[in-house]
This record gives sequence, structure tokens and C-alpha cells, in this order.
Amino acid sequence: MRGLFGKIAVVTGGLGDLGYATAQRLREEGCKVILVDVQPDTEGKATLINAFFVQVDIGNEAEVKKACEGIAAQVGDAHILVNTAACFIFKGVDATEADWAKINAVNIGGTSLVAKYIVPQMRKNGGGSIINFSSVSGFVGQSNFATYNATKFAIRGLTKCWAQDLAPDGIRVNTLCPGYIYTKAFINSCEKLGLDIEEENKRASAMHLLNRQGTVEEVAAAAAFLASDDASFITGSDLLVDGGYLAK
Ligand SMILES: NC(=O)c1ccc[n+]([C@@H]2O[C@H](COP(=O)([O-])OP(=O)(O)OC[C@H]3O[C@@H](n4cnc5c(N)ncnc54)[C@H](O)[C@@H]3O)[C@@H](O)[C@H]2O)c1
Repeated sequence: MRGLFGKIAVVTGGLGDLGYATAQRLREEGCKVILVDVQPDTEGKATLINAFFVQVDIGNEAEVKKACEGIAAQVGDAHILVNTAACFIFKGVDATEADWAKINAVNIGGTSLVAKYIVPQMRKNGGGSIINFSSVSGFVGQSNFATYNATKFAIRGLTKCWAQDLAPDGIRVNTLCPGYIYTKAFINSCEKLGLDIEEENKRASAMHLLNRQGTVEEVAAAAAFLASDDASFITGSDLLVDGGYLAK
């Protein structure tokens, strides 16, 4: 209906909260979906939604190249790439060489490597849509978040450069920038830090004009919009799905 039926979509970080919700939404709209993740799919999440799964470390070029070639051979050339995979290192000025190497290699380098091997497939298809996950953290400073926020700012920069490079090929490139989303990862991190989930939820909610955290489904709907023909005149943009976080 809006150009998603039958399209081939690669979702990195596909086993994660937002990647999986996006994969589910794209499946509901008729896409063939390939989940890419560094973790093994021990829970059979891909099978649950009739998707494909490839275990890849996106920071490793040889693995990415092999995986993308496998996707083209087994499923077909991709039309849509949703880059959600990220590692979460939250450090300030105390960040080490190893911290920077890791977070840059995955969040910036890895995002780029997947695009490097998927873009030629999109060219064969005569166009496509790339959605890179940034964040409200790609717009503002947050205390002791320098490592993470630097990569989320970088994602917005590379998105705008790729939008220029790839427009002649009919490939649109945008970022999706969520505010705080109520995810399993949020609950797990509260439990890990011994924090009260309800209290933390209230604290996070108050940062947004809508006074709540977002849902994974709300983020997935925005990703599907950017992937679809409904967004056919949108490229080089940042789509905020932040409940008014940045409007405060
Ligand atoms: N959850 C939020 O509140 C929120 C808010 C703003 C932005 N974001 C962004 O959304 C994206 C997804 O976040 P999430 O909450 O779903 O996180 P998540 O931890 O649930 O999912 C991230 C996934 O990426 C995978 N991954 C990590 N390193 C990888 C690598 N080297 N190769 C392949 N896969 C790798 C992980 O295994 C995991 O499944 C991230 O880019 C994050 O910055 C999240």
C-alpha cells in the first residue's frame, strides 16, 4: 500500500528492543526482514516473526561483507537498511583509548560498514531508504555521556553526508532520534543498578513534554514511515520521536 510490501529490509541490532520492534512492524507491512545482530538468536526471535537472522559483528568488515553477500544470495538485494545496532559506553572525560576504539568502531564504523555493502544492492534496485538511529543524545550534552553522545552526533553528520552522496541513486538517508523509550533494557538497567523502576520511570517521564517515556511501537512506526513511500520527499532529515524532550 505504501510501497513496503515485498521489500527486503535489513535491520541491524535486530534482536534489541527497538530493532526487533521495527523488524516486527516491517514484517506486518509485508517486508522480507533480515535481523543482524552480534548476539546469537537463542530465543528464536527471528522465527517468531518469520524473518531471517544473521549473526554478525558490524564492527568487523570481513564479517559484514560476507553477511551482506549472503543476504543478497539467499533473500535478495536489500531496499531498506535500518541501523539500530549500538554499544552503550557512558563515560565522560575519563574515557579510555579502549572505550573510544570500541564505541567508535561499532556505533560509527559499524553503521558505515553495513551501509557500504548494502548500498550497492540498493543501487541495483534503483533506490532505497537508510534509517540511522541517533537519539536526543545526538543533539544535546548529557553529563557523563560524552562517549555515547559523540557517536550519536556523528550519526547525524554521516547521515547528512550520505544523503548528498546517495540522492542521485534514489537512496534516501535519514536519522530517527528517539527520546527515552520504555524498553526491557531500561528495566534491566534499573534492576542492575538497584534503582526503583517506577521512580526511574517517573524521573525519565518528566523530561518529556508528554510526561512519559515512548514505546517501542511508536519508534517502529516512525521507522516504517521513513522506510516507506510516504516519506518519498524526505532525505537528510532528523525525525524526532521524543515526546517533546528537545522542545523543553
Ligand atoms: N532505548 C532508548 O531509550 C533509546 C533512546 C534513544 C536512542 N536509542 C538508540 O536506538 C538504538 C537501539 O537501542 P535499543 O534500546 O534497542 O538497544 P538494545 O541494547 O536493546 O539493542 C541494541 C542491539 O545491538 C546489538 N549490537 C551491539 N553491538 C553490535 C555489533 N557490534 N554488531 C551487531 N549488533 C550489535 C546488540 O546485541 C543489541 O541486540 C541504538 O542505536 C540507541 O542508541 C535508544
